[in-house]
Amino acid sequence: MEIKKVTERIQNDLEELARFTATPGSGCTRLPFTKEARGAVEYIKKEMAEAGLLVWEDAAGNVFGILEGENREAPCIMMGSHYDSVINGGNFDGIAGVACAIEVARQLRERGVPRKRSFVAAGFCDEEGTRFGTGFFGSGAMLGKWDVEACQRFKDTAGISVYEAMEEYGLDPKRIKEAEWRPGSIGCFIEAHVEQGPVLAAKGTELGLVDCIVGIQRYMVTVKGRADHAGTTPMDMRIDAMEMAGRVISSLPGWAREYEDGTVATVGYIHASPGGINIVAKEVQFSVDIRSRSNRHIDEIAGRLKEALEAASVACGGSYEMEQKLKIRPLHLSEELLAVMERACMDRGYSYQRMPSGAGHDTLEIGQTIPSVMVFVPSKDGRSHCPVEWSAYEDLAKAAVLSADLVEAVLCGQKTSRAILCGYG
Ligand code: GLV
Ligand code: MN
Ligand code: MN
Repeated sequence: MEIKKVTERIQNDLEELARFTATPGSGCTRLPFTKEARGAVEYIKKEMAEAGLLVWEDAAGNVFGILEGENREAPCIMMGSHYDSVINGGNFDGIAGVACAIEVARQLRERGVPRKRSFVAAGFCDEEGTRFGTGFFGSGAMLGKWDVEACQRFKDTAGISVYEAMEEYGLDPKRIKEAEWRPGSIGCFIEAHVEQGPVLAAKGTELGLVDCIVGIQRYMVTVKGRADHAGTTPMDMRIDAMEMAGRVISSLPGWAREYEDGTVATVGYIHASPGGINIVAKEVQFSVDIRSRSNRHIDEIAGRLKEALEAASVACGGSYEMEQKLKIRPLHLSEELLAVMERACMDRGYSYQRMPSGAGHDTLEIGQTIPSVMVFVPSKDGRSHCPVEWSAYEDLAKAAVLSADLVEAVLCGQKTSRAILCGYG
């Protein structure tokens, strides 16, 4: 009975939120600081308020809703995920976790759980980093990791900085530091998310309990050559930015494969200018995203990338710039919270397995300093970051019920250590 009601509420929220896309009919495109983001934020605020939460939007564009506990000074329990999406992505990545967090608040009230501390539902801004090549903007700002200088430095491919985009959206980037939460004010963090891979669906397992998340480094590389006539400039007299980029890009996958441990490296964006069929490329810009459970492997690939760019510059006569957009270490999630979740799965009779995450999540940022845990829901055919992304609403409901069980256990002070009760910092 509980599951049916929870399923319907989550389905309703996700179907409503799916309307906020810049590409209707071609998946979800909800980039940060756009009118689609504004639409989703307003809907989230409304649902949070209807769930009885005190709602606010912070200086970084994050949305929070608090269900206050008796002791407002005690570190809160926070649950959430992101409301932005990739380009032509799905209707579940991130936003499903926001819907689950709001649903947990509803359940806590319905169950009449006594609250010694507060529960906070969160919708984070710009986890994906799609627009600016970065990542974890909102959750990072909550931890004080963004400042005015960084907002001015990082730009999208149209040259618009985070700073300018925020102003255009109606936020004051000079106040970015106000988004920081006081160290010690968040006791633990929970994120429900779709798996985005094929493992759970293939095995018929209902839920995944994430025990580690890969580290990530991201770069935007700009290779500089010289624009010339494609027909009249001999091969040994041109400075071809595309040739330089091609040498480096074609080597990258092989470096990742050498480790045979799940390390991955991806060039997902490339742009040549001036971009004419009969012009030698003057400049080529491409992104690099490197991930591994081993931080050493990520560092090594980044080092080889730099060496290859040097070698290509010498061989072809051009130059390059390599801008780091993101650097975050692999994370092991809280054993203590995992154990509580495992217990709850057994009590509910949900099948589960522990698993790593190859995708980045707000938890990767938050879990570096705050005890954190994630629950995964099966993704149909493992597809994600594309319009066909799909998870069953009933599975999401199970993740929400399980998360409510965990929150209830922590709220009631069961099985919780000093780290969780006293907060980070
Ligand atoms: C986010 O989905 C990422 O893993 O890049
Ligand atoms: Mn994503
Ligand atoms: Mn996500």
